[in-house]
Amino acid sequence: MLADSLSIIKYYKMKTHLILKKIKRIFKDDSKPLDDIHKYWKKPADGTNRPSDYILKDERSRYLLEKIQNLGKDINILEIGCNVGRNLNYLYNNNYTDLSAVEISEAALVKFKDVFGETYNAISIYNSPVEEFFKENSNLQYDLIYTMAVLEHIHTDSDWIFEHMVKQTSKYILIIEDENSISWKHFPRNYKKIFENLGMKQIEFDDSLIAKVIHKGFVYRLFEK
Ligand SMILES: C[S@@+](CC[C@H](N)C(=O)[O-])C[C@H]1O[C@@H](n2cnc3c(N)ncnc32)[C@H](O)[C@@H]1O
Repeated sequence: MLADSLSIIKYYKMKTHLILKKIKRIFKDDSKPLDDIHKYWKKPADGTNRPSDYILKDERSRYLLEKIQNLGKDINILEIGCNVGRNLNYLYNNNYTDLSAVEISEAALVKFKDVFGETYNAISIYNSPVEEFFKENSNLQYDLIYTMAVLEHIHTDSDWIFEHMVKQTSKYILIIEDENSISWKHFPRNYKKIFENLGMKQIEFDDSLIAKVIHKGFVYRLFEK
């Protein structure tokens, strides 16, 4: 009973926070067009999100592996927004070999080759915005498509990619995303609503452990077809 009341309070606090931020955005209007968001991620120039920042966050990859391990071994997997490939390298070292990735930043992939060369050479990597990747490769199919801290940076003009994610997976979509932050490069969404409206079913959820592994506001969701 008490737990129920606390989670209702938590839910409404979060909602109010989001609405206030949205109102602030309307008045401040710090939104940017899609091209500017792509330009930023191709070469972040604000001293954050450097490829080297993504090499050592092993606890995130360990969390991901634990979730993927429940889905069977012989699956082909696509990561959207792999950056330096830390997650893929972790999976590769744990006997997942049918791996693909799409990443907008060439500099991140140069670093990927440099630090995780064996994995880089063994898997399929596409250097392009995910929007272009889906338009040009609508025939490709995966058993699992996953993202970690990437969909939150996908501009609302590109919402159509969620439909491609659903079409191009035969079984699972796994997301680890911030559903609450809002800024010129953060686009908050409820991925349960999005993917269930597109015919997937959420079968797992976590917002407490993942908040400790990454940051508050992040959720883990697993969807099945
Ligand atoms: C916050 S980082 C997360 C990196 C990695 N997934 C991880 O968890 O370590 C977001 C990543 O998504 C990539 N990205 C952002 N927008 C993209 C897009 N439209 N297409 C492909 N990659 C994109 C960025 O270049 C960056 O590597």
